[in-house]
Amino acid sequence: MANKLEVRNLRISFRTVSGKLQAVRDISFDLKDGETLAIVGESGSGKSVTSKAILGILAGNAIIDGGEIIYDGRDLLKIPEDEFYKIRGDKIAMIFQDPLSSLNPIMRIGKQLTEAMILKGKARQKSCRKAFNEYLARLEKAMIKSNAANDPEKARSISEKCKNFDKFEGTHLKLETAYNSAVNNANEAIAEIENALFLIEKNAFKDEKNIISNICELSLGTVNDYVVSDDSAELHTLVSSLKTAASASKKSGNYDEVTANLNKINEILKAAIAKEMPNFFSMGYYLTFSGEPLPDLPVSELNQFLRKYLDDNYMLEFIEYVENALRDSAKEHLVKKEAVVKELKESLNTFRADVYSRPEIDTLVNKLVKDVHDSIDPMEINRDSTAYTFESSLRSAVEVYFNGEKQNVVETKRYEKQKASYDRKAARAGGELSWKVTPAAIVDLQLAKDNICTIIIRLTEHYEELLAQKDQRDYGEEAVAVIDYLKLNASGFANKVTRRLAKLRALKLMEEVGIPEPRKRYRQYPFEFSGGMRQRIVIAIALAANPDILICDEPTTALDVTIQAQILELINKLKKERNLSIIFITHDLGVVANMADKIAVMYAGKIVEYGTSRDVFYSPAHPYTWALLSSMPDLDTNEKLEAIPGTPPNMIYPPVGDAFAERNKFALKIDFEKQPPMFRISDTHSAATWLLHPDAPHVDPPKIVTERIARSKKNAGGDSNG
Ligand SMILES: Nc1ncnc2c1ncn2[C@@H]1O[C@H](COP(=O)(O)OP(=O)(O)OP(=O)(O)O)[C@@H](O)[C@H]1O
Ligand SMILES: [Mg+2]
Repeated sequence: MANKLEVRNLRISFRTVSGKLQAVRDISFDLKDGETLAIVGESGSGKSVTSKAILGILAGNAIIDGGEIIYDGRDLLKIPEDEFYKIRGDKIAMIFQDPLSSLNPIMRIGKQLTEAMILKGKARQKSCRKAFNEYLARLEKAMIKSNAANDPEKARSISEKCKNFDKFEGTHLKLETAYNSAVNNANEAIAEIENALFLIEKNAFKDEKNIISNICELSLGTVNDYVVSDDSAELHTLVSSLKTAASASKKSGNYDEVTANLNKINEILKAAIAKEMPNFFSMGYYLTFSGEPLPDLPVSELNQFLRKYLDDNYMLEFIEYVENALRDSAKEHLVKKEAVVKELKESLNTFRADVYSRPEIDTLVNKLVKDVHDSIDPMEINRDSTAYTFESSLRSAVEVYFNGEKQNVVETKRYEKQKASYDRKAARAGGELSWKVTPAAIVDLQLAKDNICTIIIRLTEHYEELLAQKDQRDYGEEAVAVIDYLKLNASGFANKVTRRLAKLRALKLMEEVGIPEPRKRYRQYPFEFSGGMRQRIVIAIALAANPDILICDEPTTALDVTIQAQILELINKLKKERNLSIIFITHDLGVVANMADKIAVMYAGKIVEYGTSRDVFYSPAHPYTWALLSSMPDLDTNEKLEAIPGTPPNMIYPPVGDAFAERNKFALKIDFEKQPPMFRISDTHSAATWLLHPDAPHVDPPKIVTERIARSKKNAGGDSNG
């Protein structure tokens, strides 16, 4: 599974009046495609700060001390706001704890849903147009290079072909947009007609004038060569007699004629939407270049005819050119990648050396960055995250090293000076003073070097993997993917989100998130909704842009237990249906038991345990996780819950050792002296506690935890046996 998002060594602090508060202290995790990652921890552990950093909405006093957040080949910590704007809400959406605070109280729900769709729709149209133009231009160059190097005549014909692609795509999209709009109208008209028939039958038909005129308008909007065509005259007649019948029935109270009319219209529309959709892509080509009218054939035969016409006159040759271009470009860049691998490996000698010389390192970094950049194949349609972020990662890691070198000198001097003064004063006073000397903030230079090497090794391994797979590549398949990519971007810019379409989508979304009677709800204000319904609306808004990643920050804390369960179920359902990747933030481990694939347990700004849901629930390794598990309510027992004693440390002065030591009944001496590293327990599981050190005494989790694990294992076993 591919990584959707990678957080690497993220460190964030806040400027406050009493000093620098370290909210997030070097955390790393990744989020895979279609996976739910839960981040669990007590209040103040840094969960929200992490999610706000991913969304680029940190408070003004925040300082990013280091790290990376990689999404789609870019480091979100380093992109300008106008680019972030396109990602936030669009690709990465967030729902917050309190639904009321994310809704506008004086705007109708419908408008809140459609507003963003229309705005984002415009932005998307623009960026699709841009992507289409840029890629086609690059493709043209590459195609000429590999297919017509010394043949100006052929080069001209390739350029012509590219221009033509753009041209017939235009026709294709006009046709398809008109078709989509007619089909949408038909669907909506059918829904309205069935609703009206239902009301008439129940003798509850009110507001006839609006309903009937809406139905008439929608029905007439279905006339299109490929939706309602042959029946269009009949449809017109039915619509006008429906209007007459409706006003007559209002006086008489007899709706028989209205009903009959509605049924006939319904029949026509249903038949229309059941028809096969023509292949507008090839039709666009035929209509633009053949100079002939369309042959009169049933749709399936027409599609075959058009497809063949397009292939014979254009596409087969075009794809062959694309395939050659992709193969040549890939080969050229694979050779470069091979050279880069060698270079990267050699560079480790310099990066691992004891002494760093700034000019030497700078020259090396510039050279590597340039060569890596040149080794990226511009014809690839999927961004290679590791290669694209290499420059920013390497440069910032090197910066950390050299800043640390400077800072260590300054800090050591400061510390020695203050310590000497302290010692003098203490000697004079004959004992300890009422204040302490702040210890020197020394940057671990070895760690900084290791981080640099990790970046080098990461790209080396990634390139080696690509090189190893190079013979398995199928350039014919890749060429087809390129055509699809162009088609997709082209339909992106032709898909104008009109008010009508936005409304239709909003109603569908409301249905999807389980809001009953969406048509009625559409016109209401947030205060007319219950808490659970409001949270559903917030989820619908978050989904409106069809994001890849959904961040849920305590989305159920404000709700009562039964509603909470419904919302969790909804989030799970949406994840499956839309293949969303989810980051689910909560202080309650119990909430995520049935939804998380992976769990990161956070304490005092660090991830203290990280593993799959099974790892964390069945073999928890960190005493803090044990404490969370013991404080989790369990339906099976009436056992008294054990609250976690004490409070988290003040993060302006984080403890030198393990931050949890003070509250940990299993703490060892070393816990108070030195921070534990992440110990690897298995491929998927790791935890930062000295208890996992090979020399540590063996400690079992508390009884309440082991009993709970045994019980839940038994329950799970019982379930799977049916
Ligand atoms: N703008 C800010 N200025 C100063 N400190 C801040 C700021 N925002 C957050 N913090 C501090 O950062 C730390 C982490 O806060 P965060 O909001 O991430 O906690 P959390 O894990 O989400 O907790 P909760 O469960 O209460 O939401 C806390 O100590 C908090 O006080
Ligand atoms: Mg929070």
